Amino acid sequence: MLGPVILAASRSDKMRRFVSAAPGTKQVVGRFIAGETVEQVIPVVRETTARGLEVTLDVVGEDITTREQASAARDAYLELIEHLKGLDLGTRAEMSVKLSMFGQALDGGHELALANVRPVVEAAAAIGTTVTLDAEDHTTLDSMFAIHEELRKDFPQTGCVIQAYLFRTEEDARRLAASGSRVRIVKGAYKEPASVAYQDKAEIDKAYVRILKILMEGDGYPMIGSHDPRLIAVTQELARRAGRKLDEYEFQMLYGIRGDEHVRLAAEGHRMRVYTAYGTDWYGYFMRRLAEKPANLLFFVRSMITK
Ligand code: FDA
Repeated sequence: MLGPVILAASRSDKMRRFVSAAPGTKQVVGRFIAGETVEQVIPVVRETTARGLEVTLDVVGEDITTREQASAARDAYLELIEHLKGLDLGTRAEMSVKLSMFGQALDGGHELALANVRPVVEAAAAIGTTVTLDAEDHTTLDSMFAIHEELRKDFPQTGCVIQAYLFRTEEDARRLAASGSRVRIVKGAYKEPASVAYQDKAEIDKAYVRILKILMEGDGYPMIGSHDPRLIAVTQELARRAGRKLDEYEFQMLYGIRGDEHVRLAAEGHRMRVYTAYGTDWYGYFMRRLAEKPANLLFFVRSMITK
């Protein structure tokens, strides 16, 4: 019950102001956000990759309201790429972007988001790495997939995300698997209506497995974004049945969640990528992490009281 309430609050400016100013917030946010600046996140990248893990870096931010903010988002990623250049990690450090942060929801937003994300994808390719387009709420996805397809003409390694909770996703998975894309499959983190998405956890898990099967049997590179132990076991079995080697798919988990599992899977020889978010506009990202596990909310409330 709490999850949908928290997700609704994640879009409220009033709640944003309240949560951002609350005592103890910084401490709890720090569990999920690796730093506020690029200078703070680079040591995290070094430390994570030194442990045999890989990273995807996300400059937090979404739903911007001006063209200047969209340009600033592009510049933040270009600055990140400048810093990554010196580390020479290739695809061991890639990037994830939200198109709403690149202006997708503004007037003429589809073209604007494409124009802003292209230089980021180009700069990433120039240092031997790549970019994955995150999936946001369902109203944004036709535009996201069209931008993905457009970028892949010049940069075929550009990835995208699909969400198991949406009815449309099996069809998207078939198309992407046939075209040989890098695809991250996740359960889905937004508040979606029953007209477009499964609401029941068991239904979402079943859909996840069906989609996973399509990706494993296809020509692309599946990226399994989940902390769910059952889905991780199913992935290993489906990969074995599809005859995929360990480097023909990868696991991805979020910074701050199930860290022991990151290490365990990497020690088994799997590619394990840690989605590492940083920046100051952390509110939406943080609230989705609270919604996924209501126990996080209790921890958050307790930290406010004891401050
Ligand atoms: P589930 O929610 O069932 O969690 C399984 C177990 O993991 C829990 O029992 C708990 O132990 C642990 N866990 C999960 N979430 C936790 C949390 N917040 N705090 C503490 N423990 C937690 N979504 C989206 O809509 N678009 C996107 O682009 C992405 N991108 C993305 C990238 C990566 C790398 C990951 C891992 C996830 C995403 N997501 C996402 C989020 C995704 O849709 C989903 O909300 C979360 O991964 C939680 O679902 P799980 O599959 O982990 O299972």
